[in-house]
Amino acid sequence: MRTNYCGLIDKSYLGDIVDLTGWVHRRRDHGGVIFVDLRDREGLMQVVVDPDTPEAFKLADTVRNEYVIHVKGLVRERPEGTVNESLVSGEVEVLVKSLVIINSADPPPFLMDDNSISESVRLEYRYLDLRRPEMQKNLRFRHQVGMVIRDFLNNEGFLDIETPMLTKSTPEGARDYLVPSRVHANQFFALPQSPQLFKQLLMISGYDRYYQIVKCFRDEDLRADRQPEFTQIDIETSFLGCEEIMSLMETMICQVFSEMLQVDLPVPFPRLSYKDSMDKYGSDKPDMRIKLVITELTDLFKEVEFKVFRDAARLENGRVAALKIPGGVSLTRKEIEEYTQFVKIYEAKGLAYIKVVDVSNIPDGLNSPIVKFIPENILKEIINLTGATSGDLIFFGADKRKIVNDALGALRAKVGIDMKMFSTKWSPLWVIDFPMFEFNEEESRWDALHHPFTSPADGHEELLKNNPGAALSKAYDMVINGWEVGGGSIRINTIEVQEAVFRALNVSEKSALEKFGFLIKALQSGAPPHGGIAFGFDRIVALLCEVDSIRDVIAFPKTQKAQDLLVSAPDFVDEKQLKELHLKMNKKI
Ligand code: AMO
Ligand code: AMP
Repeated sequence: MRTNYCGLIDKSYLGDIVDLTGWVHRRRDHGGVIFVDLRDREGLMQVVVDPDTPEAFKLADTVRNEYVIHVKGLVRERPEGTVNESLVSGEVEVLVKSLVIINSADPPPFLMDDNSISESVRLEYRYLDLRRPEMQKNLRFRHQVGMVIRDFLNNEGFLDIETPMLTKSTPEGARDYLVPSRVHANQFFALPQSPQLFKQLLMISGYDRYYQIVKCFRDEDLRADRQPEFTQIDIETSFLGCEEIMSLMETMICQVFSEMLQVDLPVPFPRLSYKDSMDKYGSDKPDMRIKLVITELTDLFKEVEFKVFRDAARLENGRVAALKIPGGVSLTRKEIEEYTQFVKIYEAKGLAYIKVVDVSNIPDGLNSPIVKFIPENILKEIINLTGATSGDLIFFGADKRKIVNDALGALRAKVGIDMKMFSTKWSPLWVIDFPMFEFNEEESRWDALHHPFTSPADGHEELLKNNPGAALSKAYDMVINGWEVGGGSIRINTIEVQEAVFRALNVSEKSALEKFGFLIKALQSGAPPHGGIAFGFDRIVALLCEVDSIRDVIAFPKTQKAQDLLVSAPDFVDEKQLKELHLKMNKKI
């Protein structure tokens, strides 16, 4: 049927007779001549039908947007003044000899070059949305990124091995999606939150280097960078340490950037400890394109009368900190009020500030509702510690450490974006030296910060027992432009350490055996030292495509409410199916 793709025909085809198939992007009637922009996955071709071919002309008159047609015609130069430089095919057109309507189409709910369609309409008509050039570009890009990664891993000796989708819960911190078993009444499979335990087992089985580009499932609150089913580039190796794994993975990501964007990322990626990351940037995934840094003031305020700050400074888990905004004196009262509302999302109770109008004149050169509560020597110390100078503004956070970090961390990113403070286009880094555990205040127990198979740092094994909060791990996260794109670690490969971690997490021996008995046995069967990482494939592609949401690089994503609007899933099932699965609904709708 077809000799060429529409979008690839250029002047080198002049004089050729071509057969093209595709969708009617637009039809224009120019007084006796009909122009059809014919679209296929490679782009557009202007097709001209004139009355000298009466049959084709009659049919062309009836075609509408999104009809599928087949034309045969002559490639010729476009008349002067009608050249479209933005298209490969922009200098040529096809004069039609014959035209066949292959299929008609209902009027589409939106035009394929409309970029202002609401997301719910786009998702409901995803098959049409995916026809839009932007989505075609994104999905093709995704394919290409996948190819670069597969090539790289293949060249490095990694084997692509599939792991089960119907399996048992793997703890990655989210709820499981469960699948009831028909054969085994009352029993459920869990869809994998990640292939974590299987890839460790593959190392124990001697495969040495494994990878998989694989679906994972997590029932968690969704955001722009989170989907209930998403894709990981999942990797595991044996006999390599942190440094070697990080260096190999850095090389892989550099290759992706260089092949896909012709961008050379600076290597080695900078490293930042989790503690510094939280203290200086208020986040474990700091956007390092933005140079703003948070300044610690907790000790400074322990003895200062100003109650809001002193109380926070004296809290066991309290923090008083500042964020200096160079040139921030220009912020209006309204803008500051908006930022004050913004930090409330993170439970901050307020957002004190000082405008440094004249740094040589303290306190009179400082403009702020709180200056009168703070002694002059402390004001000078704030200026000194933040390095503020005339023209700068200093924001303050005072509260529990977590609230201050969340609020100032988010504020840092927001002000940086609002005031266009980017120093580079791409800023990758590794965050390292994570704690093994974080305290879960609601349930008053320790949770694994990564997952419970993460190895403690050398010499930190004893701390698991005595002071779990102080134990660091051999985990590393890769962060690019404020997105956590990947996370991994060296794993525990001895039963003693694994049991110590379960104990610290308050997992009873019985429950450890029930849940992970297979792993505990496998660890005793000759487990090599091993470690790995998983990258969020969707996130990497979204970053490279410069889109805000991973939904724009996934063919059929779910909404924020974890629904598929196209097929209407999830959905009710009939009684018979429930019965077979030994299930009974107890919620009347
Ligand atoms: P982790 O839980 O950090 O590690 O996940 C690895 C990477 O997967 C991406 N990611 C997601 N992307 C989209 N939607 C989600 N809901 C989502 N959740 C995670 C992130 C993240 O960095 N088994 C470990 C890896 C390992 O230790 O090797 C794991 O799954 O980019
Ligand atoms: P107040 O004394 O409550 O009127 O607050 C004085 C200033 O401190 C205002 O600018 C508040 O926005 C700010 N503020 C109040 N509570 C906090 C806090 N926990 N952290 C930072 N600033 C605060």
